[in-house]
Amino acid sequence: MLVELNSVSKRYAMGDIWVDALKDVTLSLEKGEFLAVKGPSGSGKSTLLNILSALDQCDSGTVQVGGVNVGELSEHKRSKFRNRHIGIVFQSFNLIPVLTALENVMYPLTLRGVKEAKPRALQALKDVDLERQINQRPTQLSGGQMQRVAIARAIVTRPDIVLADEPTANLDSKTSENIMALIQKLNKEQDVTFVISTHDDYVTSQATRVITILDGKLVNDSLVADMQFKKRTKAGIAESGVGA
Ligand SMILES: Nc1ncnc2c1ncn2[C@@H]1O[C@H](COP(=O)(O)OP(=O)(O)OP(=O)(O)O)[C@@H](O)[C@H]1O
Ligand SMILES: [Mg+2]
Repeated sequence: MLVELNSVSKRYAMGDIWVDALKDVTLSLEKGEFLAVKGPSGSGKSTLLNILSALDQCDSGTVQVGGVNVGELSEHKRSKFRNRHIGIVFQSFNLIPVLTALENVMYPLTLRGVKEAKPRALQALKDVDLERQINQRPTQLSGGQMQRVAIARAIVTRPDIVLADEPTANLDSKTSENIMALIQKLNKEQDVTFVISTHDDYVTSQATRVITILDGKLVNDSLVADMQFKKRTKAGIAESGVGA
């Protein structure tokens, strides 16, 4: 199993009160899955992604990514772990304004001291169809192009998993479709695992699995629902004697 969350809970202090952002969430993910996380605003989607990406820690429960218990890592080891294993795409892109597209994508590799940072970054930019924009700075790019740079930066390290928090929220519908086509391609052709939080039905329609979070609780999982449906169907067929 690539990711295993076991009874994960997270609370935030809001002045005098506590907000339960995640309550007892248990979830497993296999390599190659494309998981969409949906739920109303404030339901805990970003919290879940932040915990999965080891940007934040849970209060109770365990988070394992690639067999590593992320909660047991020191701050320093966690950021190293993120750089090695996790690609993150933020809603607001988070590109470095003074760097060109190419330099932005090279950055996580440079941090690691990878020698072939440039050819790898060029390839990642080619994968997202941005060969012609490599020397442009973020301000000289459109929203969709910036998001593609952010995706290139997330995949260039060949992470085990890419987490994207509402990657299409700031894009028009045509650009969203292009970004989703790109994510589909990376998921199918390069077996990149994706976890994407979204309010967008188009995004959920593209995923291989959809979970719903409500008030911090995992209330629906399409994989579990499918399995239950198959089990019920099988039992029903056996009972009716049709399959006999
Ligand atoms: N740093 C924080 N401090 C205090 N409360 C927080 C913090 N981050 C999140 N919360 C609270 O935790 C709950 C879950 O927030 P979260 O950002 O995970 O929701 P979300 O599903 O991503 O919402 P949206 O769709 O609006 O992005 C909310 O009630 C929010 O107010
Ligand atoms: Mg959010």
